[in-house]
Amino acid sequence: EKGGYDYFMLKEIAEQPHAVAETLLGRLNEHGDLMLDEVRLSDQDLRDVDKVFIVACGTAYHSGMVAKYAIEHWTRIPCEVELASEFRYRDPVLDRSTLVVAISQSGETMDTLMALRHAKEQKARVLAICNTNGSTIPRESDAVLYTHAGPEIAVASTKAFLTQLVACYLVGLHLAQVRGVKYADEVAAVVAQLQEMPAKVEQVLSMMEPIRELARDLAEAKSVLFIGRHVSYPVALEGALKLKELAYMHAEGFAAGELKHGPIALIDHGTPVVCVVPSPRGRGVLHDKVVSNIQEVRARGARTIVIAEEGDEAVKPYADHLFYVPVTPTLLAPLVTTVPLQVLACEIASARGHDVDQPRNLAKSVTVE
Ligand code: M6R
Repeated sequence: EKGGYDYFMLKEIAEQPHAVAETLLGRLNEHGDLMLDEVRLSDQDLRDVDKVFIVACGTAYHSGMVAKYAIEHWTRIPCEVELASEFRYRDPVLDRSTLVVAISQSGETMDTLMALRHAKEQKARVLAICNTNGSTIPRESDAVLYTHAGPEIAVASTKAFLTQLVACYLVGLHLAQVRGVKYADEVAAVVAQLQEMPAKVEQVLSMMEPIRELARDLAEAKSVLFIGRHVSYPVALEGALKLKELAYMHAEGFAAGELKHGPIALIDHGTPVVCVVPSPRGRGVLHDKVVSNIQEVRARGARTIVIAEEGDEAVKPYADHLFYVPVTPTLLAPLVTTVPLQVLACEIASARGHDVDQPRNLAKSVTVE
């Protein structure tokens, strides 16, 4: 049932191109229009939305963080992301024109469910992004957009994360199309670029051998830090979460710009720092800022592990290890940059002799608050 792989996690990582393709399938018609028929909210309801809240936990929360950048950029609607376990305790401002998006692989996470119920009590509209048909969260939501990742068995979420990203992009693009947007050309281009993502994820998967080698080398590290900016910041958090839960190592993700406000003191001789670099095309300033952050950590002794876009020459002088991913628009880049971090965590955990599919102290679905 593991299809020849040692772990479900490895099988699920390998299934990602298919999972992404399945989640896109049938949702874009031949004219590139988005067809979201499971979203039972009228176009008028969507035009009335004046604020989006995304609530989720763990990996699903990281997909929500990426979604915030995309949704705000494409739709110009303010979008906040909040840990579901915090949401209802701080009395968030919600009303009929608030769209609450609850993201959950299992559809049974109690924290997310309670946040959803709280939002409904306050009359907000609730849209679930979920991988499990008929589970509680979609049942209690006003509308559902299912991710089609197929069953995810490993405790560490991989293919569900990539499909959550796809679903979030679809929601953002749909909102943008229904409401009419400032960046209409860009939105149309992204619809086309999304179709290319399964092949790009496949390409990344075919280049993972050097990551496996590095993983064996890092198995004894005390701590691994991850840095990124913009959508690469949640990718850094996701890379660190994977490593914590699977390898039981200290790992932390930081917004690269925050380093100088404290965390850079953690850098010692040889500290591994995984740097997720945005595309040098498009928002060039962002890229250059991250490159200077890499220089800063390296000057303090860090061993830099750099994930950058193919053809990015500027990172070369500062990368102790360099891994390229295919050229991808900035907002969609998490679909490719996350994959090496999943493989890295899985291989480090396995080199340390841990059961990758069943990490200690964790359950696949957390049904208590
Ligand atoms: O089923 P959900 O997506 O609601 O689960 C949320 C988190 O518990 C989950 O993503 C968790 O963080 C994963 N084990 C991370 O790999």
